[in-house]
Amino acid sequence: MVAAASDSTANLAVNDHPKLAGKVAIITGGASGIGEATARLFANEGALIIVIADIQDELGKQVAASIGTDKCSYVHCDVADEDEVKHLVESTVNTYGRLDIMFSNAGVASASEQTILDLNFSEMDRLFAVNVRGMAACVKHAARAMVEKQVRGSIVCTASVAGSNGFPIGTDYCMSKHAVVGLIRSASVQLAARGIRVNSVSPTAIATPLLCNGIGLSSEEAREFCRKCARLEGVELTPELLAKSVLFLASNDSDFITGHDLKVDGSLASF
Ligand SMILES: NC(=O)c1ccc[n+]([C@@H]2O[C@H](COP(=O)([O-])OP(=O)(O)OC[C@H]3O[C@@H](n4cnc5c(N)ncnc54)[C@H](O)[C@@H]3O)[C@@H](O)[C@H]2O)c1
Repeated sequence: MVAAASDSTANLAVNDHPKLAGKVAIITGGASGIGEATARLFANEGALIIVIADIQDELGKQVAASIGTDKCSYVHCDVADEDEVKHLVESTVNTYGRLDIMFSNAGVASASEQTILDLNFSEMDRLFAVNVRGMAACVKHAARAMVEKQVRGSIVCTASVAGSNGFPIGTDYCMSKHAVVGLIRSASVQLAARGIRVNSVSPTAIATPLLCNGIGLSSEEAREFCRKCARLEGVELTPELLAKSVLFLASNDSDFITGHDLKVDGSLASF
């Protein structure tokens, strides 16, 4: 690996053995955090095109430009709106001929503490519209496009350790991430005969805007909080590190793995 230095690829490196050569990928929530880091890694792994879909238009365009508009484009898409998701997938297939990878990653945190005794159902509905309906819409339309073009594609959803554990706060968030695991398990069974794989990654806490804003911490305070969430010493979970697990599930390296929820939690410490 040799460091590259051109303007648009300053953060990329030359890769002699790319894992995603020629692949067309969509990444929802790609303007920030885990999605952004994954877009950069996919680009470095030879993806033909990465379509970043988000609602933060300026940020999304900046990320696409910094990766290079020859291999990354930005599309406004609110995943809570099925028509927008359908348009995202159709426009990608119309422009680039196929869809190989859907990384359905966009998500939001609980708007307040959302303990069961004070559960606010309006807030819960808003969260479910993105974290549950949005994920299902992305899996549905990606799978339809793959079936139509007979692509043995890979769909990866971002769940969470909250998809298999309970926590003192964030009841609606926990419920939504359990739903994501149910979604990938069901879809993987239904799509297996088409050769389409569906998996999820389940990270523990990572200091992204979602976490910092969600629990009201600065970036440095959030990193300290994250360190306490894992027992494993000597390594910190960052968006870039998580992106490697997404790459594993998206690429042929995981060719016989489907319906799997890959926990990336460094041995989850109790809260
Ligand atoms: N950060 C963590 O601690 C953590 C842990 C486990 C799981 N996750 C999950 O990781 C995923 C990515 O979050 P992140 O931590 O990178 O946070 P982030 O805030 O950096 O990124 C989330 C992105 O999703 C986008 N988004 C939000 N609502 C959207 C919508 N309706 N349509 C399209 N895009 C939308 C946001 O604009 C943002 O760019 C989420 O699904 C989150 O639940 C995060």
